[in-house]
Amino acid sequence: MNIADIKNKFSIIGHNTLLERAIEIALQAAPTDLNVLINGESGTGKEVFPQIIHQFSTRKHGPYIAVNCGAIPEGTIDSELFGHEKGAFTGALEARKGYFEVANGGTIFLDEVGELPLSTQARLLRVLETGEFIKVGSSKVQKTDVRVVAATNINFYQAIEREKFRVDLYYRLNTLPIFLPPLRERKEDIHLLFRKFSNDCSTKYRMPVVKLTGDAEQVLTNYFWPGNIRQLKNITEQICIIEKNREVNAETLLKYLPQYSSNNVPVLLRNDSTSGGSALNGDFKERDLFYKIIVDLKKK
Ligand SMILES: Nc1ncnc2c1ncn2[C@@H]1O[C@H](COP(=O)(O)OP(=O)(O)OP(=O)(O)O)[C@@H](O)[C@H]1O
Ligand SMILES: [Mg+2]
Repeated sequence: MNIADIKNKFSIIGHNTLLERAIEIALQAAPTDLNVLINGESGTGKEVFPQIIHQFSTRKHGPYIAVNCGAIPEGTIDSELFGHEKGAFTGALEARKGYFEVANGGTIFLDEVGELPLSTQARLLRVLETGEFIKVGSSKVQKTDVRVVAATNINFYQAIEREKFRVDLYYRLNTLPIFLPPLRERKEDIHLLFRKFSNDCSTKYRMPVVKLTGDAEQVLTNYFWPGNIRQLKNITEQICIIEKNREVNAETLLKYLPQYSSNNVPVLLRNDSTSGGSALNGDFKERDLFYKIIVDLKKK
């Protein structure tokens, strides 16, 4: 399969070079048994990559288990991942297999791996190094054969800096890194994605398709997109459902675009010192243009 086939099969939209590179690396990584770490901001489309890797690996007929490490309470994560014996803790009425045992011969996707507590990281490191693990409340060493694909967003590096994430585990997981660019660095794909989500939405709700005026398209392309593709999809759906006038201009569009990101930094004025990395640094000219559009609109 080539990149175009993969895009079709997994409904991935976009022509950005870094996106295509990510797909290419996933395809090359798949048949090897190497661990892969997928890195990208929230909403950049990480979730489909472990599936690509699994389906094009020799493990494709084995189990595929996705675990959201950030959503499991610290007290139960070891038991979820590695299982427990009967009576291991209050409430452990039966012995239970963990994901690493169930996924034997297959792939585990550890989403938000940066959220794992340090004690769990030690267990994970062991299973990655030797294939060995011990159930909670047991002393018996068990073996499993699992390939790990992990995903994380930018906060991961802070976790390493603050010694909340083991560096040795990081190197184990990161044998093959895949990077997904933020939407603001994939400007050529923004309108394409808008059209796709807008078409999907109008088909679903049987409404006329929403189109953007030229100035709205400019705003859309130059917005900071702190929530990336997820945010673009949400906003497109909101507009599709709410706006009666199916030709949306910049002024209308701006009402849907929050001007502040999650950490309360104006998205138009963000710079390196507040965003934590050069990858988040926008293009000054484009930012100026965007700012000008807003000022012009306010004058109207
Ligand atoms: N290239 C793409 N084409 C079409 N839809 C996409 C693309 N990338 C992502 N999406 C859609 O955007 C949404 C967010 O993607 P996804 O859940 O993979 O993000 P994520 O990187 O896992 O984010 P988080 O770190 O917050 O979990 C999903 O609805 C997904 O289907
Ligand atoms: Mg995700």
